[in-house]
Amino acid sequence: MKEKIASIEKEIQAYVIKDNAELEKFRIEFLGSKNKLKDLFGELKTVPNEDKKEVGQLLNGLRNLAEDKFNVVKETLTDSTKTADSIDFSRPGEPFEIGARHPLMQVRSEIIEIFSRIGYTVSEGPEIEDDWHNFTALNFPPEHPARDMQDTFFVENKEKEMALRTHTSSVQVRVMENQKPPIRTISPGRVYRNEAISARAHCFFHQVEGLYIDKNVSFADLKQTLLYFAKEMFGESAQIRLRPSYFPFTEPSAEVDVSCTICNAKGCNVCKYSGWLEILGCGMVDPAVLESCGIDSKEYSGFAFGMGIERITQLKYKVNDLRLYSENDVRFLKQFTGSI
Ligand code: DAH
Repeated sequence: MKEKIASIEKEIQAYVIKDNAELEKFRIEFLGSKNKLKDLFGELKTVPNEDKKEVGQLLNGLRNLAEDKFNVVKETLTDSTKTADSIDFSRPGEPFEIGARHPLMQVRSEIIEIFSRIGYTVSEGPEIEDDWHNFTALNFPPEHPARDMQDTFFVENKEKEMALRTHTSSVQVRVMENQKPPIRTISPGRVYRNEAISARAHCFFHQVEGLYIDKNVSFADLKQTLLYFAKEMFGESAQIRLRPSYFPFTEPSAEVDVSCTICNAKGCNVCKYSGWLEILGCGMVDPAVLESCGIDSKEYSGFAFGMGIERITQLKYKVNDLRLYSENDVRFLKQFTGSI
């Protein structure tokens, strides 16, 4: 009796049901009015009394097995008209959405990568800075308008006057104070200015400062480094142009334009029909700045440059409103999925 039960159990387990017709066959065989189990239930009478309980339980288990199998298969078959094992495993998966790095962070990484290829390290400094690192060591005279309340966010502090840094040039001071030349580093970071928010100005933005100090560093080195950067960032056809300018911490100083990436220097409304777009400020580090930071200006010279990450991103991706970068609108951010 037990053997018969075991063999039917195996039969039920191995029974392959591919469609509704086969399911019906299974039902008749194991659950119908003349099913195989019924004969066994009939035979229960002949089982000795002491075994009846155990065999009865086995038979009930068998009936449950048949019922469960019937119900499970029935459900999968009614789920779709397809048969259970005709699922196409080669079908492409359901796509699921992944996020993207913020465009400014993508461009920041790209800038770091470009300069690291020519030996620049990355340095960082604090966003809450003292007057010395943000202004004084950089040769800003005490009455310089950039220190004015209009531009700088001051931080209330009893011991020492502190402010949110207005540029990443503060990091070059910290690097020069702490390292001996040769120094070759870039400093990306967030900066703050007390400006009304509009499409073209924001109260916080991002800059990358560059600094190279060694013996015999010349203006020609600066120019070539910036041309290399422009070509890596905007493509082989990019050209640069330097215009004389003024910064307290560099002498001589220049502003650098790149040939318009939007119209290929032919002239458009973004470059105001000049074919050129301003991308950064630069110059030879003023000897007074070197001396303030403990570097002998007779032995060493160097250059520095500073660029806005928003500006570079604007030119690369044609984003013309600064506010978009901090509004966290997924429709804007989604466009940068897969860029890097
Ligand atoms: N710190 C300047 C700014 O925020 C940018 C700058 C200009 C940095 C010239 C430099 C430089 O290192 O040499 O506008």
